[in-house]
Amino acid sequence: MKAARYYDQRDIRIEDIPEPELKPGTVAIDVAWCGICGTDLHEYLEGPIFIPPKGSPHPISGEEAPVTMGHEFSGTISALGDGVTDLEVGQNVVVEPYIIHSDVETGPGHAYQLSKDMNFIGLGGRGGGLSEKIVVERRWVHAIGDIPLDQAALIEPLSVGHHAFVRSQAKSGDTAIVGGAGPIGLLTAAVLKASGLTVYISELSEARKKMARDTGVADQVFDPRDGDVAQRVRDLTGGKGADVGFECSSVPVVLNMLMDAVRPGGVIVNVSIWGHKPEVDMPSLVLKEIDLRGTIGYANDHPSTIKLVQEGKLDLAPFITAKIPLDDLVSGGFDQLINNNEEHVKILVNPTA
Ligand SMILES: NC(=O)c1ccc[n+]([C@@H]2O[C@H](COP(=O)([O-])OP(=O)(O)OC[C@H]3O[C@@H](n4cnc5c(N)ncnc54)[C@H](O)[C@@H]3O)[C@@H](O)[C@H]2O)c1
Ligand SMILES: [Zn+2]
Repeated sequence: MKAARYYDQRDIRIEDIPEPELKPGTVAIDVAWCGICGTDLHEYLEGPIFIPPKGSPHPISGEEAPVTMGHEFSGTISALGDGVTDLEVGQNVVVEPYIIHSDVETGPGHAYQLSKDMNFIGLGGRGGGLSEKIVVERRWVHAIGDIPLDQAALIEPLSVGHHAFVRSQAKSGDTAIVGGAGPIGLLTAAVLKASGLTVYISELSEARKKMARDTGVADQVFDPRDGDVAQRVRDLTGGKGADVGFECSSVPVVLNMLMDAVRPGGVIVNVSIWGHKPEVDMPSLVLKEIDLRGTIGYANDHPSTIKLVQEGKLDLAPFITAKIPLDDLVSGGFDQLINNNEEHVKILVNPTA
């Protein structure tokens, strides 16, 4: 079967590799669509980061580069391993793409995203969505009902946004300010809006500001070049400030804008994975008793995001900005996202085309 394999920086090859083997307790999936994520771009330009380099196999998967890429994917079940009795061949599914030690519990209430050696399918080994077929452990498979398979490929980044929302402990009626309207900021805003919050977004790019407005995920969209964003937020909240802020840009001025824009006692969830350590406005954090929190991946968030989409509370279709075949992955996918980033939210790859 065809697969996109990461060898090293700027060295991704479309190769013919053996099909994965169905084992007891696993599910075989024909991949329909796989999104390209900012993390994939970082691996391509600056990696390996999550990908275990040659000579340093991952402690759980035992794999090292080259590995198959792709962690945001949907597909259809083609076979069930022994012992899997609660799913059916032909069912459409998404995968929560974790590589986690087998003895770590993953039921509700368990923070398995924080377990030792955690990595992701499509980065740390165990195949990936940028290939025709994949076999995964039953526990990572989520049925999606009649959600279209292309939109379903966005359930993974949507779940990142949902986990950030859960971490914020915000509730319906609260006001949120999201810094950065890339894929993660937009999908976080989509969850917030669907959950009954008033949502403000700060973003520089014209195309992304337009996307935030057109999709209705933001009540107001600000450009920091047009004036003080924190002041705009205070003006709209009776002088109080936002209840919660979400850092989705990895830009220090945005984090400090959020410090200014949230109310005293407010919460900031930092979603960004920082390449460089930012200078943080600690005096504001202290004097306003701000809670600054991290969030990584998701943990039991997929059922909630699948439900939000199934109930029509949010529409993922507008965030799909291109669809390409696997053979065009580098030129039509990675290069587009590197050179023409702001015109795109999600580029989806069809591994069988
Ligand atoms: N915590 C997690 O589990 C998790 C998962 C996935 C991605 N991430 C991280 O989330 C972050 C966002 O990802 P993305 O793919 O959306 O990134 P992105 O780079 O596409 O988006 C960032 C956005 O911030 C905007 N921006 C830059 N400077 C700004 C400014 N001064 N004011 C307002 N907006 C500004 C940019 O125009 C851009 O649209 C990344 O750091 C990524 O690594 C975290
Ligand atoms: Zn991703």
